[in-house]
Amino acid sequence: MARALSLSLLLAFLAIGSCIAIEVTDHIDLWPMPTLVSHGTQRLYVSKDITMSMEGSSYSDEKGILKDTFQRVVDLMKLNHAVDGVNPSSFVLTGVNVVVHSPEDELKFGVDESYNLSVPTTGYPLQAQIEAQTVFGALHALQTFSQLCYFDFTSRLIELISAPWTISDTPRFPYRGLLIDTSRHYLPVTVIKKVIDTMTYSKLNVLHWHIVDAQSFPIEIPSYPKLWNGSYSFSERYTTSDAIDIVRYAENRGVNVMAEIDVPGHALSWGVGYPSLWPSDSCKEPLDVSNNFSFGVIDGILSDFSKVFKFKFVHLGGDEVNTSCWTGTPHIKKWLDDNHMNVSDAYRYFVLRSQKIAISHGYDVINWEETFNNFGDKLDRRTVVHNWLEADVAPKVVAAGLRCIVSNQDKWYLDHLDATWEGFYTNEPLKDIDDPDQQRLVIGGEVCMWGEQIDASDIEQTIWPRAAAAAERLWTPIEKLAEDPRLVTSRLARFRCLLNQRGVAAAPLAGYGRTAPYEPGPCVRQ
Ligand SMILES: *[C@@H]1O[C@H](CO)[C@@H](O)[C@H](O)[C@H]1NC(C)=O
Ligand SMILES: *[C@@H]1O[C@H](CO)[C@@H](O)[C@H](O)[C@H]1NC(C)=O
Ligand SMILES: *[C@@H]1O[C@H](CO)[C@@H](O)[C@H](O)[C@H]1NC(C)=O
Ligand SMILES: *[C@@H]1O[C@H](CO)[C@@H](O)[C@H](O)[C@H]1NC(C)=O
Ligand SMILES: *[C@@H]1O[C@H](CO)[C@@H](O)[C@H](O)[C@H]1NC(C)=O
Repeated sequence: MARALSLSLLLAFLAIGSCIAIEVTDHIDLWPMPTLVSHGTQRLYVSKDITMSMEGSSYSDEKGILKDTFQRVVDLMKLNHAVDGVNPSSFVLTGVNVVVHSPEDELKFGVDESYNLSVPTTGYPLQAQIEAQTVFGALHALQTFSQLCYFDFTSRLIELISAPWTISDTPRFPYRGLLIDTSRHYLPVTVIKKVIDTMTYSKLNVLHWHIVDAQSFPIEIPSYPKLWNGSYSFSERYTTSDAIDIVRYAENRGVNVMAEIDVPGHALSWGVGYPSLWPSDSCKEPLDVSNNFSFGVIDGILSDFSKVFKFKFVHLGGDEVNTSCWTGTPHIKKWLDDNHMNVSDAYRYFVLRSQKIAISHGYDVINWEETFNNFGDKLDRRTVVHNWLEADVAPKVVAAGLRCIVSNQDKWYLDHLDATWEGFYTNEPLKDIDDPDQQRLVIGGEVCMWGEQIDASDIEQTIWPRAAAAAERLWTPIEKLAEDPRLVTSRLARFRCLLNQRGVAAAPLAGYGRTAPYEPGPCVRQ
């Protein structure tokens, strides 16, 4: 009680003195906050014709990843305003020089994403400098640069205040994910691409594509062409070319796409095209464990996936398996008895056999945490366990020597509309993990946009800005994160308004997920 009181007194003090106390800690308009930032007080003008050069780079940008991103970033800075002021004679930033040390442009898990960015106030021509090991670090640098720049209504130019800037930045976790679910509601390709674009603004780097589930099977699988008979309609589908296009679009922006098929539960839609995958016509999931064809189909899907989804990991689900259809279906019951298995054994058998298939196609496997909770010691040692239930499983997973992704539903499920941005911000993936070797096994975290209650009409305001709050937790060094989220409210509010200006339907911060604006007033106060 005494502690709560003193905390609220402190906050009251901060609120009264907000112009001073909060401004000093929170005036830097960057989200997520970089590792190291210092700056001065000089105003610069960004030339209307700002150009990018790559002097000193070992990287040749054959795919145009850097050039295209630079062009997009310049457009973002303009925000559709006509930049029609006259460049002054001094303090005009005419270019950005990008030095990338590695010629590699393959987006691999754990790729070096660090960068240095400096914006000087002296030198001719006046140029911002970016230095990065890989092009993907340089992409983050350009995003940071874009957040320093804004359209000024007096000069009618793009300006950049508080120069010179010196920023040195590197992510805290290599896996910073967002899940989308295209089975419960179909999401058009354009919507998925816009989600990917917005991820880059807050430096998230893995799109977990929960493609299929019980309700619909929207994606084309050339090896088993009747699987997408389980789609909702002929138009609510993705061709293989669509999937390739989405993966390339994401990779060119530094975002990996991680595909999921969730087996053996959550797979009812598979049987629309291939009814023998169902235990019976009256009991349709989990997939028939006794039927070799089930594994043939999984093999076909993962074989096709391996040509499209090049990320190191594939997700095989494995959660919420209700085995009553197995014991309740005579031919499966007989198979269990013949093989001396009970349903727990059969569930394990299914998951482990599926893991072997995925590994044979070159993947490392991610499984939801029930697999670990039931037979953790039997999982392939390369398995990454994906937490979703309680927050206490990650310490157990890493103590067992396996890798972990944190997504505890009470804090990081975006479909929980009562989960606040403050909860997203303060959810700590390394909670109760003190051993540095075990900490390294937590490869990151992921916020989950399950699709039961969202579709193309409201996905953006349900994801943003709450996913961005988690993005700072996953990017910024822990010692720079505010223990009290109220200390970052105004900075996140400004980032939310920036998302709106960029055409992203990010919801107001006040209240819970997806709320309407509170009352007439400026953007940052909603
Ligand atoms: C950033 O600058 C520091 C100090 O000069 C240097 O040690 C580091 O390697 C640079 N980082 C990158 C990504 O170039
Ligand atoms: C699957 O779709 C194809 C093409 O529309 C159709 O010819 C076939 O009958 C469908 N099969 C099943 C089992 O629904
Ligand atoms: C079972 O399916 C696998 C492919 O997953 C195949 O290699 C094997 O020959 C099949 N076994 C039987 C008994 O049909
Ligand atoms: C499991 O499935 C059976 C048959 O579909 C159903 O009657 C039962 O309620 C389910 N159990 C749970 C815990 O969902
Ligand atoms: C299934 O059998 C295993 C031994 O093979 C046993 O440890 C386990 O408790 C059994 N599970 C159930 C649900 O009966």
